[in-house]
Amino acid sequence: MARDLPEVVGALGDLPGCTFLTDDDVSAVVVAVAPAPEADEGPQPRAGTVDASALYHVDLSEMAERQGLEGRAGEAAVVDLPRPHRGASESFPWSELPRRIVLLGIGDGTTTDLRRAGAALARRTAGLERVVSVATAGASDGGVRAFAEGYLLAAYRPERWSSAPDQRPAPAEQLVLLDPAADVEPALVLARRAARATWLARDLTATPSDVKYPAWLAERAVALAAEAGLDARVLGPRELEAQGFGGILAVGGGSSRPPRLVVVSHDPVPAEGAVARHVVVVGKGITYDTGGLSLKPRASMAPMKTDMAGAAVALAVVLGAADAGSPHRVTAVLPLAENHLGAASYRPGDVLRLHGGTTVEVANTDAEGRLVLADALDLAVRELAPDVLVDVATLTGAAAVGLGRFHAALYATDDTLAGVVEQAAARTGEPVWRMPLVADYEDALRSDVAALRNVPAHPPGGAGSVTAALFLRAFTGGVPWVHLDVAGPARATGSRHEVVEGATGFGARLLLEALDLLEP
Ligand code: BES
Ligand code: MN
Ligand code: ZN
Repeated sequence: MARDLPEVVGALGDLPGCTFLTDDDVSAVVVAVAPAPEADEGPQPRAGTVDASALYHVDLSEMAERQGLEGRAGEAAVVDLPRPHRGASESFPWSELPRRIVLLGIGDGTTTDLRRAGAALARRTAGLERVVSVATAGASDGGVRAFAEGYLLAAYRPERWSSAPDQRPAPAEQLVLLDPAADVEPALVLARRAARATWLARDLTATPSDVKYPAWLAERAVALAAEAGLDARVLGPRELEAQGFGGILAVGGGSSRPPRLVVVSHDPVPAEGAVARHVVVVGKGITYDTGGLSLKPRASMAPMKTDMAGAAVALAVVLGAADAGSPHRVTAVLPLAENHLGAASYRPGDVLRLHGGTTVEVANTDAEGRLVLADALDLAVRELAPDVLVDVATLTGAAAVGLGRFHAALYATDDTLAGVVEQAAARTGEPVWRMPLVADYEDALRSDVAALRNVPAHPPGGAGSVTAALFLRAFTGGVPWVHLDVAGPARATGSRHEVVEGATGFGARLLLEALDLLEP
């Protein structure tokens, strides 16, 4: 169901002793280079690469310099060495060694640098058969994990919807990470898990909205949950009506394809003595956002198939948590609706009654995300007894204006929790920036006819991402809460390091890491 990742395996050994190096299908050897310590030197070979110099009888440092490399992370050059003359050595089958060398910059060897190096490697080795790397020989577990994760993330190619032959080269058939002493498999398990979650979120988010609609996404969630042995529950329009989900129903009302609410849970048997936490992850699942009657301008509408990126991430996180055997109970809540124009569209001026009874005056039907999220957050608070509430949403253009396309806006009602997410961001390379829940702006969400307005009446003068967060907070019932506005980083306009153009899956790795960091 989910697509297979390219193969990355570990092997014990070093270059001279590597017995399969002369196998037919090994197309390249990867060695790492790092910036020169002195200005007048070339980039320096690193890790197991000293062996490579000796093995090939070439000066790798000079070779890297000739290629214009400085050794910085993200640099990569492919060099095809000429064959040595026959009889160059009797003791080793020189002419049978792979003659293609990939020189890979690893910078300072930090996890960020190694992640970027892995990503560069994926791009430079696409189309090859087997690739043997000593670039991480001797690196820490975290370093190997980052390298493999960068490789797997950058090896992603979006699904195509064409019958024309795919011209894009496939990732290398296998990447072998050689290490003289360490078993790298545990690090690879973590890398694969993180990459699989991201790939899934990307695939779902990139799916066009003629294919993807609330019932479609609900079905995918149910199938993936079943495959993982998890419980899934789906509410359709009748159940939503009976249980008072006025936000989801209003937002989804203008579409011929009715809304759904999906709940997927990972409910592990508690280990003896360990009191794990219950984390509910709510993801905004607008399968297309036209803006509704408050119609979007044509250019802003074009990318709105990705407005369910939050739901995709929430689903990937619960599946990933189960896969990892997380001790925490994790529940994903996915409010799914298509914000369309139609005879039954909700209107600016309507007063909705949300789950739990809070009334909301609709001032703009394009501020729909907070309405479906409010229903879902309220459900979580009232019925799921969460210890921690998280929501992920492509909520406001303002978040992307303020922070750009790399950082997610982070809001939190609990400093410890915010710290956990910030630490997870530092470790995964999915950056967040904490934003203030400005109390003085709450007035702007007051309505004369309802408990709240969905957009500020007298805008505080910008702060669109802040006021959206304040709206959501009203539905968190005092439960420690983290809100990630991923309107910026959910999509990328170009490929850069481990981030690929299009849907990025931002947040899946971040939240899986945060779960790992969360105290039981
Ligand atoms: N889905 C959009 C937010 C968005 C904008 C995501 C750009 C990704 C890129 C959201 O539903 C929306 O339309 N928000 C409005 C809120 C406004 C009406 C208060 C916005 O940001 O303009
Ligand atoms: Mn909208
Ligand atoms: Zn939206």
